[in-house]
Amino acid sequence: MSDHNDQNDNSTGHEWDGIRELKNPPPTWWAWGFYIGLSFVTAYYIIYPSTPLNNKIQEVVNGVTGMEVLVDGHTKGIMALVNSNPYYQGDTWTQAEIDALKAKGHTELTIKAGDLKYQDGWTAVNEMRDDVAEIELIRAASMKKLETMSVDEIIADDQMRQFTLGRSKVLFGDNCAACHASGGQGNLNAAHPEYSFPNLTDDDWLFGGWTAKIMETITSGREAAMPAKGGNEDLTDADVDSLAKFVIAMADGSAAVNDDGALTKGSFAGANALFQETCAGCHGANAKGSLVNGDFDTGAVNLTDGIWRFGGDMATVRDTIANGRVAKMPAFGGRLDEVSLKILTVRVHQLGGGMDGEPQ
Ligand code: HEC
Ligand code: HEC
Repeated sequence: MSDHNDQNDNSTGHEWDGIRELKNPPPTWWAWGFYIGLSFVTAYYIIYPSTPLNNKIQEVVNGVTGMEVLVDGHTKGIMALVNSNPYYQGDTWTQAEIDALKAKGHTELTIKAGDLKYQDGWTAVNEMRDDVAEIELIRAASMKKLETMSVDEIIADDQMRQFTLGRSKVLFGDNCAACHASGGQGNLNAAHPEYSFPNLTDDDWLFGGWTAKIMETITSGREAAMPAKGGNEDLTDADVDSLAKFVIAMADGSAAVNDDGALTKGSFAGANALFQETCAGCHGANAKGSLVNGDFDTGAVNLTDGIWRFGGDMATVRDTIANGRVAKMPAFGGRLDEVSLKILTVRVHQLGGGMDGEPQ
């Protein structure tokens, strides 16, 4: 039932089955928001391209990039008038430019000499295309520079270094991250030590962190081999055990040898004798690895720094010594061009621990 009641109770006077219809106005802040929103939409509508009135798809060629684009017809907005870019002010195609585009393979072009380059006026898409074209120009110039610069020159030049690092992300992701992880931090695989890959972000190098050596590693690859029992068939299981304990002790600092191979800490006289006889040839009398001892090619790791290539638990170290390890860093020389190899060298060097100067 609808009834008319007392007019002064803030209701419209309508009541249905005891439910009254009230006259509450919206809050003032809400009303303001509404009007401001309305003015914004109106202003936006006038300034920017908006209503798709003529929805015929039209083919347009971008004046800067020469890319073909399909655009909808729509109201153009007055942005074209305030934007300073000459293209939006009515720049037109010349026959020569159209011929050049056709020579590049744009054979289906529908534009004629005298057509506006940006038939669309200002749009965010056109503006982005211009920005992209500008970046492309800068990029192309920098890529050209990379061809003639050496890796060290690139690293010394702030702007070129930044540019190169920017370019290196995708290259590293595509070619190296599968093994060395996306940040280059490597992978210590406890379950499968043979699938462990070295960390490229630290200053612990197998073959050297000078740009020349990094370039050599990436270009030609590396294949370091630790022979089973260090190549000494006569080592017994007990010898392997005591060598493993000795190696772990050197890594955690409870044993040490000096450059002459004399034990200076810990009670490992027997193990050190075996080490000097069988292992020192590659790892050095001081066990600091081949690189520290001036050999760039063997890749025999530093056993004293506590950084493990395959793992430092007793089982893994024992397995490494008893059965040996072979690791292969693939060669990218034939697969990537010279500039890409430089870019990757810069990246690896800049990941951390890059060494200055020449190998020594
Ligand atoms: C299939 C796995 C794999 C891929 C892919 C790979 N690497 Fe390696 N990389 C290795 C292994 C394994 C080693 C250690 C080699 C050894 O011990 O003989 C290594 C070693 C290196 C080293 C030497 C580090 C040192 O301490 O001296 C550098 C530098 C390096 N890789 C860079 C790269 C770059 C850059 C890429 C991408 C272009 C790449 N690697 C791709 C597996 C890989
Ligand atoms: C012919 C050279 C050579 C000899 C001899 C040799 N090593 Fe190695 N060793 C290597 C190389 C190279 C590596 C790194 C293997 C790789 O990257 O594939 C290595 C790795 C190791 C590792 C792994 C360390 C880690 O960080 O995971 C241990 C442990 C080790 N060697 C101990 C020994 C011991 C003990 C002996 C003596 C019984 C010995 N090596 C003899 C070349 C040698």
